[in-house]
Order: sequence, then structure tokens, then C-alpha cells
Amino acid sequence: MRDKWSSKVGFILAAAGSAVGLGNIWKFPYSVGTNGGGVFVALYILFLITIGCPLMLAAITLGRKTQKSVFGAYKSIDHRWSFVGALGVVCGFFILAFYSTVGGWVLYYFKSAITGKLNTTDPNILGDIFAQLMNSPKELIFYQCIFLIVTIVIVLKGISNGIEKASKIMMPALFVMLIIIAIRSITLKGSLEGIRFLFTPDFSKLNMDVAMNALGQMFFSLSIGMGVMVTYGSYLDKKVNILDTALMIPVIDTAVALIAGLATIPAVFALGFEVGEGPKLMFVTLPAVFASMPMGTLFCIVFFLLVIFAALTSSISMLEVAISYFVDEKKKDRVKSTLLIGLVIFLLGIPASLSMGPWENVSFIGKLNFFDLYDKLTSNILLTTGAFFLCVFVGWVLKTEEAIKEIESSNVTFTLAPVWSFLIKYIVPIAIFIILISAYKDFILSLLL
Ligand code: TRP
Repeated sequence: MRDKWSSKVGFILAAAGSAVGLGNIWKFPYSVGTNGGGVFVALYILFLITIGCPLMLAAITLGRKTQKSVFGAYKSIDHRWSFVGALGVVCGFFILAFYSTVGGWVLYYFKSAITGKLNTTDPNILGDIFAQLMNSPKELIFYQCIFLIVTIVIVLKGISNGIEKASKIMMPALFVMLIIIAIRSITLKGSLEGIRFLFTPDFSKLNMDVAMNALGQMFFSLSIGMGVMVTYGSYLDKKVNILDTALMIPVIDTAVALIAGLATIPAVFALGFEVGEGPKLMFVTLPAVFASMPMGTLFCIVFFLLVIFAALTSSISMLEVAISYFVDEKKKDRVKSTLLIGLVIFLLGIPASLSMGPWENVSFIGKLNFFDLYDKLTSNILLTTGAFFLCVFVGWVLKTEEAIKEIESSNVTFTLAPVWSFLIKYIVPIAIFIILISAYKDFILSLLL
């Protein structure tokens, strides 16, 4: 028999655990910084409401209806669509490859927090600490490997035990922690400019690039587009009301991203960092915020520990997609497939780990280094493509009428059903399609030039 969530709360925590991760705490703030601030936030929220929430519901419904992991879910309804599931599996490999790189950085920072190395507000020193790590291949690969090993161990322990239990304590703790940091950040002298940067959209900065990145970031943050939510939904009991569940996850996820933005960006302005710094933003800024707090070292240690946890609840969800494909569909041994997949991801991840240091200018093809290649390929291309197919599939193949029946089967009335149906059939696929065209164009050009 297939494993089931022991409770609805367990599902919400695990799904929110998948959604809330480095995408919220690390990627969101720096993407705001590199994509013009408020305009990115505004677009993000617009996409979240019109595209993200409807798709979250579609994904969970598809999983619950078929009771199969993503590949099987598509296949059981129309076998010609199983390629979408396969796309998700491939996507998972690439995301996890660079996700584990950043997971490794967080582990290193956790260690450095313990040894007191991060206890300074000086942007130069903090910048040097990051640069040093980026130029120590041994350390990078070592920590990346540890991160993957921990992910693998948790996944091997099975669905309900490992994931659910730990989520119940760690996720709320992380939330509280972020609020405390945000309060410190916005009370720093000079933080006002940062708050303005976050929440005042400057529409003159609006362009296709920003739209593409906001959409990609939204899918990445919600864990939508590669089948995580389909797979997780498949472990849900038929009695559970998926409607409010599907709404809760985006709300939690976005709250965390915005609070992480408030924790980071105002401090960037107040303490003299660069807002367009990119992937290192969190790693240089937040230690400085801690250093300006009473008991800062302790906060710093606990914070990085909780981030490790949030990253793990996300990474296990990605690994789970790949594994359930090999176990459910290919009837492979769970332990063996997990180890093999882990190894492949580790190897894929090594070039990503070296990409901010020795391999900064090394590329596979074109001008993107491996880290950027994986990032762009997954968020802007694969996830967005996966989300597009998910939408078309639920709208036109499974059909929204069927989906609505599934949603209402747990005795709820879906008042907004006509709106949802209209969005899923017309608005969402067209909107994604338009952005996808420019994403493909952009991506292909960056490979050719
Ligand atoms: N959403 C996670 C984060 O924000 C990352 C993640 C986990 C993910 N599973 C995923 C992203 C599946 C895309 C697809 O950190």
C-alpha cells in the first residue's frame, strides 16, 4: 500500500516545507535586488494570485485524483502526456544540483557562525569571507556533499516519518526567527530607503526580463512545475479538503519570502551593502544584521541552522519526485535508486559549486557558467514549461469539470469554480506562453553568444 500523510496538518507542513526554502530566504531577496525592487515584488504578487494559486490547486488536485506520483499521474489519464512527468524528473536533477551547492554554503556559514567568524558588520570583511569560500573547491564540494547525504538519509526513511515530524517544530521556529530579524533590520538607521525599494514599484523598470524572472521565481518558490505538488497531493486522503490547503501553501510561502525580503533589503541599505549583489546577498548582509543585535552570535547560529532545515525540507521534495518515478514507475529498488540518483546529482552539482570561484567563466556552451545555466534552465525554462503543460493538461485533457468534481468530492463547495476554470483554461496558459517565448529566446541567445 502507498504511504499516506498521517494528517492534513502533516501534509500542509510538508508541502509548505517544500515550498519554503532557499527560494524564499536566499533567492527572493537577491532577485528583488537584481530586478529593480518594488516592481519585481508587485509582479510577483500579481503572478502569484492569477497564476500561482490556481496552478497550486490544479497540481494538488491532479495528484489526489490519480493517487500517483507525477509521471504516473499524467500517464494514467493520457499516456501521451507522460513526457511532462519525465520533464519534471529531469528538472529535479538540475535544481537539486545547484540547490545543494547553496545548501553547502549554508552549512559552511552555520559552522562559521559557531566559530564566531561572522561576528562583524564590515561589508568588506563579510565579502571576503564569502569570496574565500567561493575559492576553496575542497570545502565547497565537501559541504555540498554533506548536504546531499543528509537529504538522502531523510528520504530513505520514508514519507510520513522523517518529513512530517521535523516540520512541525522547525518551520514555525524559522518563521518567528525571520520576524525577529526583520524587526531588527527595519529599525536600523537608514533602513527606510530599503523599505521603499521593496514596496514602491518603479514601473519604468518593467520589462520582459523582470516579468520572466518574477514568474520563474514564483514557480520556484512554490515548488510548482516539476511535479512536487502533484506527488505530494497523491499521498493525500480523499477526505481532505484540498481547496483551503492549496490556498494556505502560497500564503505561507509568500509571507516567508516577504519577511525574508524585509529582513535583508532594509539592512542592505542601512549597513552599506550593494543591493544588486546577486547570490551572495544574504550571506554578506544577514551576518551584519546579527552582529548589530544583542546575542547576535546565538541568533546567527540558530538562524543558519533553521535555514539548513528549510533547505532540507525542500531538497527532499525534489529528490522524492525523482525517486517515486523510479520506484513507482520503473519498479526499481528504493534504496538503490536513491543512492544512484544522489550520486548523479552530486556530480552534476560539482561544476555549479565551482561557478562562483575557479569556474566562474567556465561554461558548457555559451556564456553562462554552470550555476547560472542550471538556475536559468530550471526556473525560467523547465519549471515554466512544466507549469504551462500542467495548466493545459488540467484545463483541456483532464478537464476542469473533472478536477472540480475531485475538489468537491470531500464535501466542499468550490464557489470560485467558474473563475478558476476560466483562469486555468485561458488566462494562465496564454500568460505563461507569452513569457515562455521570450524566456526561450533569451536562453537560446545566451547559449549561442
Ligand atoms: N520551493 C523551494 C524553495 O523555495 C525549492 C523547491 C523545492 C522546488 N522543490 C521544488 C522548486 C520543486 C521547484 C520545484 O526553496
